Amino acid sequence: MKQIIEYLRQIKEKGLYRELKYLEAAQGPYTVVEGKKVLLMASNNYLGLCNDERLKKAAMRTIEAYGVGAGGSRLTTGSYRLHKELEEKIAQFKGTESALVFNTGYMANVGTIAGIADKNWVIYSDELNHASIIDGCRLSRAKIVVYRHCDASNLLKKARQFQGAPGLIVTDGVFSMDGDIAPLEDIVEIAKRYSCLVMVDDAHATGVLGPNGAGTADYFGLKDEIDIQMGTLSKALASEGGYVAGKKYLIDYLRHRARSFIYSTALAPATVAVSLASLDIVRKEPELRKRLLENARWFQKQLISLGFKVMESKTAIIPIIIGDADKAVQFSKRLFEAGIYIPAIRPPTVPRGTSRLRVTLMATHTKDDLNYALEKIKKVGQRLGIIK
Ligand SMILES: Cc1ncc(COP(=O)(O)O)c(C=O)c1O
Repeated sequence: MKQIIEYLRQIKEKGLYRELKYLEAAQGPYTVVEGKKVLLMASNNYLGLCNDERLKKAAMRTIEAYGVGAGGSRLTTGSYRLHKELEEKIAQFKGTESALVFNTGYMANVGTIAGIADKNWVIYSDELNHASIIDGCRLSRAKIVVYRHCDASNLLKKARQFQGAPGLIVTDGVFSMDGDIAPLEDIVEIAKRYSCLVMVDDAHATGVLGPNGAGTADYFGLKDEIDIQMGTLSKALASEGGYVAGKKYLIDYLRHRARSFIYSTALAPATVAVSLASLDIVRKEPELRKRLLENARWFQKQLISLGFKVMESKTAIIPIIIGDADKAVQFSKRLFEAGIYIPAIRPPTVPRGTSRLRVTLMATHTKDDLNYALEKIKKVGQRLGIIK
């Protein structure tokens, strides 16, 4: 169709056309992309568990015992005891009464938000929330009130303006493209004052932040104040699936209301077994998240001292702002030629004029790896005139 072809032509012209790069080896600090061994500096495999022997064994044992497919949705023939075990373990990990597992984090957000809110609700949503939150808000048909990024006073103003209707405040815990942390203490205060529910997306905080690695509520000591803790099993936990954790009545409600939970085949048993084993590792090995965050702070400091514009971040996400989309793509391409893999992030994923290289580190990157990357990033940055 004419419109579709024209759209593709336009995004090519603007440097926004996307192509996939294919991995040909397991993910660790290094991997193989299209025949080339590269240092991977952009994976959400934060704790370096994607190729962990214990997790692989857990998957293989489970495949031997249960086969490979779940064979049905959770409410029909697809619920294994393993799913129940995982939900109990997540509730324990998050310190909540109950939890529900979805097939992806995306589905957890869409199903939960649209399951809870309807056209009579007001949803207050941070302007930089993840696309899956935005899609959940739209699907709910609630009134969507977008507040300025991490701006509690702007949220307060809007909550005052729209008070009266049932309200849900929803925010990323750690913002996926910026790496900053939501001001949860202020958000909880506002929610209390205006009787709103609070939902936090801990996709990038699960296994990473907080004394127990349980996410942003754990980080702020607010687990009893956050009504809905959502997260994914696909990043630090190196598995697949999403979850929501909260009070039993809310989880019961979602089991009846969240369409992405009800109308989709359950996660395969082996995937569930990987999540269970991974949660054990997070509990038993706090040194992994400690090393990850030490790596990130050190690397961020070095980038700043080289003269790069690096966003403020207390997490493992370190965005190097380039601005122009074409230049960000050039930067990424030349780094790839030099053996470093950091894809460029462009609009519409990030606002126009803020194209970036989103560096994410792993607990398993060594100082040698990081120094090697810095040397290449510096050289390419100078050649492109991004730094002096
Ligand atoms: C903040 C945020 N929420 C939700 C998701 C979706 O999680 P999943 O990849 O498990 O669908 C992601 C990841 O892409 C994310 O970054």
